[in-house]
Amino acid sequence: MSIEKMSSEEIRSSGMNDDKLVDEHVRLNEIKHEPTKGFLQAPLIFVFVFGCLIFVCSIQLAHTTNDFALHPPDEIEELTPDEKEALRIERKFSSGEKIFAARCASCHQTNGLGIAGQYPPLAGSEWVTSDPGIITNIILKGLKGEIVVKGETYGTTAAINMAAVAINDSEIANVISYVRQAWGNNAEEIFEDEVASIRADSAEKQDQWTGDQIISMYPESFAK
Ligand code: HEC
Repeated sequence: MSIEKMSSEEIRSSGMNDDKLVDEHVRLNEIKHEPTKGFLQAPLIFVFVFGCLIFVCSIQLAHTTNDFALHPPDEIEELTPDEKEALRIERKFSSGEKIFAARCASCHQTNGLGIAGQYPPLAGSEWVTSDPGIITNIILKGLKGEIVVKGETYGTTAAINMAAVAINDSEIANVISYVRQAWGNNAEEIFEDEVASIRADSAEKQDQWTGDQIISMYPESFAK
């Protein structure tokens, strides 16, 4: 029976002396572990080189990436109150300009001059630049019937009444603020909550305003 199949008890009673046992172990060891001499060095060198590489890269990373933070905080720019205000207004007007281009310019034209006899001008119109409630009401509910803008009569045919424009209160505030300051107009901006309160005031109204209704709501704006 070969030694690897024997229990320790059997080995002890088999009468093998120590030398024989050592020889047996050497033989068994060679069977189990094939000689590795000559193979081991290459992987060792790789392990060493990669180790160094990882080490160097980590140091480099730690230096350049703000302590390994994947998203280092943006540098916070400290704006003065004036700069913040300028930025707020710039954003509001550029939003208003985009809304105008998408929702109004097809009729009133990009230059705000409208089309003679069809679409009234917004540039220099008292409907735009006097009480901001006027233009707000017009956008919220629309406008029908004849009106006079800069001495010209518009709205003479039902087909080109101005329909209510479906945009939200903050968009309305932005586009109105833009229109009130574009093309040489020079009226103050308006805010979302003003639009909201005018919307609430006219919640019951189903149809468009007429020019006369608007004029009677804001008599001072039209008293020349
Ligand atoms: C489909 C064409 C059309 C669109 C789009 C339109 N309007 Fe009008 N708008 C008219 C017409 C037509 C009148 C005149 C209506 C009347 O007299 O009954 C008018 C009247 C007005 C008036 C009052 C008269 C004046 O010229 O000052 C204002 C202010 C106005 N529109 C603003 C706007 C704004 C702001 C938008 C975009 C949010 C807009 N309109 C979108 C056709 C349009």
